[in-house]
Amino acid sequence: MADLTSNFLGIKSPNPFWLASAPPTDKEYNVRRAYEAGWGGVVWKTLGSEGPPVVNVNGPRYGAIYGADRRLLGLNNIELITDRPLQTNLEEITRVKKDYPDRALVVSIMVPCDEESWKAILPLVEETGADGIELNFGCPHGMAERGMGSAVGQVPEYIQMVTEWCKKYYSKPVIVKLTPNITDIRNPARAAKAGGADAVSLINTINSITSVDLDLMAPQPTIGGKGSHGGYCGPAVKPIAMNMVAEIARDPQTHGLPISGIGGVTTWRDAAEFMALGAGNVQVCTAAMTYGFKVVQEMISGLSQWMDEKGYTSVDQFVGMATPNVTDWQYLDLNYVTKAKIDQDACIKCGRCYIACEDTSHQAILMSEDRVFEVNDSECVACNLCVDVCPVENCITMVELPKGEVDPRTGQTRGDYANWTTHLNNPSAQAAE
Ligand SMILES: Cc1cc2nc3c(=O)[nH]c(=O)nc-3n(C[C@H](O)[C@H](O)[C@H](O)COP(=O)(O)O)c2cc1C
Ligand code: SF4
Ligand code: SF4
Repeated sequence: MADLTSNFLGIKSPNPFWLASAPPTDKEYNVRRAYEAGWGGVVWKTLGSEGPPVVNVNGPRYGAIYGADRRLLGLNNIELITDRPLQTNLEEITRVKKDYPDRALVVSIMVPCDEESWKAILPLVEETGADGIELNFGCPHGMAERGMGSAVGQVPEYIQMVTEWCKKYYSKPVIVKLTPNITDIRNPARAAKAGGADAVSLINTINSITSVDLDLMAPQPTIGGKGSHGGYCGPAVKPIAMNMVAEIARDPQTHGLPISGIGGVTTWRDAAEFMALGAGNVQVCTAAMTYGFKVVQEMISGLSQWMDEKGYTSVDQFVGMATPNVTDWQYLDLNYVTKAKIDQDACIKCGRCYIACEDTSHQAILMSEDRVFEVNDSECVACNLCVDVCPVENCITMVELPKGEVDPRTGQTRGDYANWTTHLNNPSAQAAE
């Protein structure tokens, strides 16, 4: 069986699955049960400064987006950082770390953006024996209005400054958690690195309104007739998160900076994809909130089985393996040609591919009177839409045209790799000649 042991920043855990800072890691009771269920590590629910704890709303704090089978695809929340006293959290963290020395325990922190506040809390966290800290520069609601969370995460200079304070007053690894509510994720990642961060983690939640109550005429979740934007997470955000992870992993300025991947991880496959793009481990919130702590067991067995099949003996062997294959559009091979092919035995004759191609693509699917659907290679541009709308998995596949063969659509023989940078129709390429 493959060895799932993870060593992220020198923090060892029996597997690369950590719970993200959120309700699942809110207290000792949860974290102990999470460890017992098999989680390799946790990032404790974000701590704030000493003093009166924050106050959460007492009405609904979550909203959701569902798939057709009511499977939860996206979760939205207006919860704040921990609303439990700092001292209680610190005592619980100390006890839990002592009892579970083989599990990762990282403490998330969000305090005001001044040196004194960080200087005050960091020694208290250090005393707990926790393995590291994660700076919550991501919360998009409630705390941002008070100059914390994403209000800091959207200003690279602040990120660098606060990270420097943390490296000054705390001796263990510092992970900077990034907000996706920004135009170019590379800038905050570069700032974190410049400030001395040991790693970045991403993504925190995305600003969102999940639905509007059309009777109350207010966003949901609705609190006394009003709603506010909340943070979006869950399977729906995974594509956004993975792109951001890849952007940081392949940016020459941050290449090599360890990344903890977060956003929609629900299965072992999601985790493997994040890790292939450059994440050293993954963090999970919504999947645990939807399916309970034991969801990690499927992740562990699935990842282990896949690694065995592929011959990977440790997780580090495939971390970042897909990163070199993430490129800019201009470098894609314009001579790569595929054609859609329908498996007649698998086809259930629903006609969705036909309608999609006929109405919105290239009129390349032919329908006979007895509803046999076939692709006309002379029209197919290989857009993949029919594959995407077909309800039968692998019923339509894209088949590569071998080099040297003629594409019946263009009449051109498939040549070697050539991209847009040198294409005849590219005015910049001509200017460069
Ligand atoms: C209800 C809720 C509360 C959260 N609270 C925090 C928090 O206190 N600190 C933090 O850094 N992230 C917080 N998050 C964000 C998660 O840690 C995570 O970044 C996000 O949910 C994306 O992961 P997921 O798609 O697996 O849920 C919270 C998320 C949810 C759903
Ligand atoms: S790949 Fe696109 S163009 Fe080709 S048959 Fe499918 S939908 Fe039509
Ligand atoms: S969408 Fe798929 S199943 Fe439906 S007709 Fe087309 S190929 Fe057949």
